[in-house]
Amino acid sequence: MRVTNHIRDLGANAYGGIKVFAGSSHPELAEEIAAHLGLKLTGRDCIKFPNENIFWRLHESVRGQDVFLIQTLSSPVSDHIMELLIAIDCLRRDSAARITVVMPYMAYARSDKKDQPRVPITARLLADMIVTAGADRYITVDLHAGQIQGFFSIPGDELTGFHLLSEYFVERKPDNAVIVTADLGFAKKGRNFAAKLNLPMAFVEKRRTGNDAQSEVLSVIGEVDRCNVVIVDDEISTAGSIENTVKTVKKAGARDVYVCATHGVFVGPAIERLRVLPIKEIVITNTVPPTPERLLPNMKYLSVGPLLGEVISRVHQGRSVGEMFNE
Ligand code: R5P
Repeated sequence: MRVTNHIRDLGANAYGGIKVFAGSSHPELAEEIAAHLGLKLTGRDCIKFPNENIFWRLHESVRGQDVFLIQTLSSPVSDHIMELLIAIDCLRRDSAARITVVMPYMAYARSDKKDQPRVPITARLLADMIVTAGADRYITVDLHAGQIQGFFSIPGDELTGFHLLSEYFVERKPDNAVIVTADLGFAKKGRNFAAKLNLPMAFVEKRRTGNDAQSEVLSVIGEVDRCNVVIVDDEISTAGSIENTVKTVKKAGARDVYVCATHGVFVGPAIERLRVLPIKEIVITNTVPPTPERLLPNMKYLSVGPLLGEVISRVHQGRSVGEMFNE
């Protein structure tokens, strides 16, 4: 992956000059992106009134400008979604020429199909709301399912955190290592990750032996005995999948276990589960802010700031994003 250190020529394009705004969900990442671009975030007020209504006001005009709005959809999810929609509306009503939503983590992405009767498809609803509010483009990182791209009727760039994660492990490649996915649905991305590291793969498979939830068994497809294992997934939410996978590979004879994922959502029992599991290192990106209560001594955060900064500059300059990854 090629990320330049100094971005030049961020002058006006057909949509005008560039302006970058931060929502309130991840100010550190927004600052890092702006620093990578050699810009300052444009000022705005974000106020939550006593009645919980959210209000945005821009400190300067964006009329005829190329605007990038950074807001990850971390907790409190509903507030951050509402703020995103209000901010887009605010920018649109101030006549921005183009609004690109930079959403490192998209909430509700697991609600992407009717997999049982009488349920919503909330990822589609969210995409519709973003478009209706006035976004012209979006940039995001590792959607739970690639098909969600098609829920947006506007152009977008789905980036991946796996280049960063694989580069980290290329440098520190544990010897005799195997890549393991916690979920067969993630097998294809897991295979690409293993190919980048030139390592073999194994899968942890969940199988039912009866009709009740207790009759689920976990088994390993592939060889992990006396190997160091790198478990890879798109997100860690409650860490239930990671807990099952770590225990299963350990039972199958794995030596050191590493875990990596793009999104460290870490909700509910996640941190307590991860704290007691025999994991050597947990490597994640900062698409979701690493708040102090969600940090463990064996966690390593890799920043997506330079990656997002580079992509924003390319979108503004009308340059290929794919060529960063030699595509
Ligand atoms: C599942 O489809 C995903 O790839 C992750 O395994 C899942 O989102 C992790 O959730 P949790 O941490 O709650 O098990």
